[in-house]
Amino acid sequence: MGHCDVFEVSPVCPLPAARQEAPDFCALIKANARYRHIIGNTPAIIYSSVPSGDFRLTFVSENASRVLGYEPSEMLDDPNFWFNHIHPDDTAQIFSSLAMLFVEDQRIYEYRFRTSDGSYLWMHDTLRLIRDPDGTPQEVIGLMTDITGRKEMEDTLQRQAEEQRKLIEQLKMAQAQLMQSEKLASIGQLAAGVAHEINNPIGFVSANLNTLGNYVATLLEGIQLHQCLQGGALPAAMAQEQLRSFEQRADLVFLSEDVTELLAESNEGLQRVRNIVQSLKDFSRIGESNWQMTDLHRGLDSTLNIANNELKYKVSIVKQYGDLPLIKCLASELNQVFMNLLVNAAQAISERGTVTICTAREGDKVSVSISDTGHGIAPENLNRIFEPFFTTKPVGSGTGLGLSLSYGIVKKHGGDIRVSSAPGCGTTFTIELPIDPASVLAQSSAMETTGEAS
Ligand SMILES: Nc1ncnc2c1ncn2[C@@H]1O[C@H](COP(=O)(O)OP(=O)(O)OP(=O)(O)O)[C@@H](O)[C@H]1O
Ligand SMILES: [Mg+2]
Repeated sequence: MGHCDVFEVSPVCPLPAARQEAPDFCALIKANARYRHIIGNTPAIIYSSVPSGDFRLTFVSENASRVLGYEPSEMLDDPNFWFNHIHPDDTAQIFSSLAMLFVEDQRIYEYRFRTSDGSYLWMHDTLRLIRDPDGTPQEVIGLMTDITGRKEMEDTLQRQAEEQRKLIEQLKMAQAQLMQSEKLASIGQLAAGVAHEINNPIGFVSANLNTLGNYVATLLEGIQLHQCLQGGALPAAMAQEQLRSFEQRADLVFLSEDVTELLAESNEGLQRVRNIVQSLKDFSRIGESNWQMTDLHRGLDSTLNIANNELKYKVSIVKQYGDLPLIKCLASELNQVFMNLLVNAAQAISERGTVTICTAREGDKVSVSISDTGHGIAPENLNRIFEPFFTTKPVGSGTGLGLSLSYGIVKKHGGDIRVSSAPGCGTTFTIELPIDPASVLAQSSAMETTGEAS
């Protein structure tokens, strides 16, 4: 072997001719140069330090000057170089736990380290304690990697996650507000109908009361006459004449029949008012905003009562109620879903038609389907109807929020909502709800965290 052409080493081995015969020595130089080359060019800074007190650096790989801007000799000369260049905010966590190096023999820290231009780089520092055969600490050998890029990425991700969290929060609030305004809008829309439903019986009950008042006046007149006659205040013939003329005027036979009828009719009218007030209470489930065991049929019936004015002139309602258990739900929200489906169904029917409500239990789920004989949904609209603000109704008559909110409410219950429709053949919406949503919701959130859902 005539020469050693290794990196950064003279191409000719600088040893005397006699020594050139010693192949080991040359190989040693070659290896040494190779190691220096490798160490000096690793992406990480390799260093060693004393295993105590100030952890004075005893070796620093040459790439320190490239990464940090310091010459290794500069770093070795200052006994406190390492400690003095760590960011003040990061020193506490290192100092408080560095003693553990002597228990665990290895520690990893991430901290900011000051470079020669005064800026800070994030370093990932792995410190390994080297012991002699007796177990006495000899030195620390470490590896510092510049992870500033990763940290910046983490920061960006964290900022983005925070922004997303805020956005989700805002969306939730917006949705809650939308729900509230949709609820108000539907109550507003229905208020006129409900007012009419209440006004009608109140109208005839008050007319009946008027007539009954006249009848009472007549009867009081009769009683007075009767008292006069009994007291003998008038001669018998005259008394008889007055009584006859009163009976003719009063038409007592008709009066007694009519009184009974008017009372029955008024009672029925008041019952209708009572029902609608009860339905309003049931519909909104005043004072109940929590998950409760609920009878869906009661919810459907109260919703039908409230929507009656929208329905009664053109829709015959067919109820095919199955045997349903109580289900755990947010009743007032589900009533809103029923309301929207029923009003949509009624609005899809132009002259006269039928709306059929079927309920059934299927294992641990229940289903409610609402079918109409209306104009149906065009195929190109079928997959758009659940979009917020999608509406085919004239401006000012539909906000296009009904189905999107219904979808959200059904999903919140761990359920499903499906539609089948064809133009001219009517539409069926089917809602499936778990009897106990907790099990379904827990399962789906577990699936989301393990990524199964995707
Ligand atoms: N039963 C139905 N028959 C025919 N089309 C329907 C039916 N239900 C919904 N649609 C269609 O879906 C669209 C969206 O319905 P959605 O309930 O979300 O809003 P909307 O009824 O238009 O307005 P809003 O409910 O906010 O008053 C409707 O505009 C209509 O085109
Ligand atoms: Mg609607």
